[in-house]
Amino acid sequence: MNNKKILTGITTTGTPHLGNYVGAIRPAIASSNEKEHDSFLFLADYHALIKSKDPEALRRSCLEIAATWIASGLDIDKTYFYRQSDIPEILELNWILSNFTAKGLMNRAHAYKAAVDDNEKADPDKGITMGLFSYPVLMAADILMFKATHVPVGQDQVQHIEMTRDIAQRFNHQYGEIFVIPQGVIDQESAVLPGLDGRKMSKSYGNIIPLFCNSKTLRKHVMKIKTNSLEPGEPKSSEDCLLFDIYKSFASDSQISSMQKDLEDGISWGDAKNQLYELLDQQLSSYRLRYDELMSDPFYLDKVLRDGAERAREVAHTNINEIKSVIGLGSLS
Ligand code: TRP
Repeated sequence: MNNKKILTGITTTGTPHLGNYVGAIRPAIASSNEKEHDSFLFLADYHALIKSKDPEALRRSCLEIAATWIASGLDIDKTYFYRQSDIPEILELNWILSNFTAKGLMNRAHAYKAAVDDNEKADPDKGITMGLFSYPVLMAADILMFKATHVPVGQDQVQHIEMTRDIAQRFNHQYGEIFVIPQGVIDQESAVLPGLDGRKMSKSYGNIIPLFCNSKTLRKHVMKIKTNSLEPGEPKSSEDCLLFDIYKSFASDSQISSMQKDLEDGISWGDAKNQLYELLDQQLSSYRLRYDELMSDPFYLDKVLRDGAERAREVAHTNINEIKSVIGLGSLS
C-alpha cells in the first residue's frame, strides 16, 4: 500500500454527461494511472437510495456508470473499483461513527437544511428521512474505512469532507490516531464544464449533453448550445463564449487556436457548432463502442465490481477489526 490514497465516490443516480467526464472521470483516470498512490473509486449506491426508490432506475444507473468509467479507460487492475453496498464493513463503521457525530453538526449540513427550508411553513420534517439526515456519516465511513488521504470532490461536497474530518478527530481524540484525517481536493474552476445554457452542466438544471449517446443525439444537443445573435461574417469573441469553452475542454492547442481564428474571422454559429460536434463525436466514438459492448454484458460488469469489492474488503476487514478492537468490541481476549 502507498501512503497516498485517493478515494472518491459517485452516487449512482442518472446517466453520465459530458460535465461528469471533464470534471471527474477524465482527471480521475489520468491520476489513477500514476504509480505513487493507491486509488479507490466506488459506486455510492447506498447514497443513491437516499434520492431514488426506483429499483430499475438504480440498477440502470449503476450499470451505466460502471460501463462509463471502464469504457473511458479506467484500469481496473490498478484501481480498487467497487460498489459501496458490496462492502458491509462500511455500514458497520457507519454505526460506529454515528456515535462520534454531533447531531448539531448534522443539523448544519447544506442538503438537509435545504430540504427543511423547502418545507417552508409546513412541518419542517416533512419528507426528510434519517438517510438524508445522516448522509454525511455514511460518507465519512466511505472515506475513513480506507484511510484515504485525498478526496477529490465538487464544491458542493466540501462541507462533507469537513464533517468527515471533524468525526475522525473526535474518534481519534478518544482512542488514539486510528483514522487518517483526509484532505479534500476541490475541482479546479477550469474542470467545470458549462452546460447548454451557460450554468454548470448538471442534470438538475436540465442543460446536459449526454456522454455516450449516438451521433445523432449528440449533434442535436450541440445544436442547442446557447450563442449570441451575431450573424455569419461578423467577428466573434472567444471570451464568454459557451461553445468555445466546451470546445476548449476537448481540443488540442492547435485546434483551439484555429477555432479562435475562425471565430475572429466570423464563422457562423452553425458551422462552429458543427466543428464542436465533429470534435466530440470523433473523440468519443471509440469509447462509445466499448460502452455499448459493456452495456450489453452486465455479467461482466458484475464480475468486475465483485472482484474489486473482494480486494477492497481485504483492506476494510483489517481496518474494521482494528477499529472494533480499540473500542472494546470483537475479541474478548
Ligand atoms: N456524496 C458524493 C456526491 O454526491 C458521493 C460520495 C459518496 C463520495 N461517498 C463519497 C465522494 C466519499 C467522495 C468520497 O458527489
